[in-house]
Amino acid sequence: MIDCSHTPFMRALRGHAARPSPVWIMRQAGRYLPEYRELRAEAGDFLSLCFTPKFAVEATLQPIRRYQFDAAILFSDILVVNWALGQSLRFAQGEGPLLSPVSDAKSFETLNADALETKLEPVYEAVRSLKQELGAQTPLIGFAGAPWTLATYAIAGRGTPDQAPAKSLLKRDPDLFLALLDLLERSVARHLAAQIEAGVDAVKVFDSWASAAPSDAFERICLESFARIRAELAAKYPDTPVIAFPRGVGKDGYAAYDAHSGADCLALDQSVDLVWAAQNLTQTTALQGALDPALLLGDAASLERAMDATREAVGDRPHVLNLGHGVTPDVPPEMVAHLVNYWRGGEK
Ligand code: CP3
Repeated sequence: MIDCSHTPFMRALRGHAARPSPVWIMRQAGRYLPEYRELRAEAGDFLSLCFTPKFAVEATLQPIRRYQFDAAILFSDILVVNWALGQSLRFAQGEGPLLSPVSDAKSFETLNADALETKLEPVYEAVRSLKQELGAQTPLIGFAGAPWTLATYAIAGRGTPDQAPAKSLLKRDPDLFLALLDLLERSVARHLAAQIEAGVDAVKVFDSWASAAPSDAFERICLESFARIRAELAAKYPDTPVIAFPRGVGKDGYAAYDAHSGADCLALDQSVDLVWAAQNLTQTTALQGALDPALLLGDAASLERAMDATREAVGDRPHVLNLGHGVTPDVPPEMVAHLVNYWRGGEK
């Protein structure tokens, strides 16, 4: 086993501050990198990138080679779980993901989790190769979508701005909605466990649409569901830290995750005031993120000011520098280099 427990990133997730704090960024492998665009053209389409281990390995390593981030995140997608359950999935240029929608009992019946790990084996194979390639200095993050976020795509069959189709199914047929959520929860827990078995050092659960959950259902469909997945992983893999990303849930939502989710690290979106978070969330819980991705499209001085403010806000807490959401395709790669260098003190 390749042991990364001494690295600043793993230590931060376990509640120990390192200075400068470790840094990685969401969607660090992606279209803003010319070498990624080349690889994607070679693979032909996005899903071939995800399901061909040598391509997934290469995409994961590209940003590590360029920026020496303190952690690598497996190149994959949250929607591979929907695909493994039997939904058709394709990524149309400029349209985002398109799936066969699960909107009634008949389409729900077609889903089946029996072969989940077999279908996702190329993902686990990529993890095993990556652990060899990355060695002991760069930990590997595995991930999955949270059940609610996966349900929003499963039900609508695509991304929507307000998740109206999922909310309307919850109202119209709560039993069917909860059966789907439960199937997704069990599948996500299995997918994360299989990634841990294959060697990932930490896992992150992306609840990118947590803010769209109806407020009277938020605890049931976001927080409790995450807490059950976390508890199940803790029982089997007590040494693997879990990062929660309940995007857009605001102060009350983050405070509730802090108190009840069991997460080792809370990933904050850019609407969260880091000063508030640092003062109010449990001192040993690592805080990650909150930096506005739009800063990478502005001038270097504004980015530097935001990083100075971050340094001041987090004080001596365990912290991981990251954005509040993914880096966008229009970001100049030099700005990402500047972020890393300035944060580490190499370039003033
Ligand atoms: O570098 C990394 O962060 C690792 C890889 C990763 C991807 N998607 C690659 C990807 C991760 C962790 C994800 C998570 C993901 N996927 C989320 C949660 C995080 C978030 O952004 O809120 C969500 C909601 C998805 C679903 C998804 N995948 C959408 C909505 C889209 C289309 C939008 C877009 O950016 O094009 C994708 C495609 C996708 N996933 C791309 C990448 C690099 C772009 C695909 C391409 O090359 O065209």
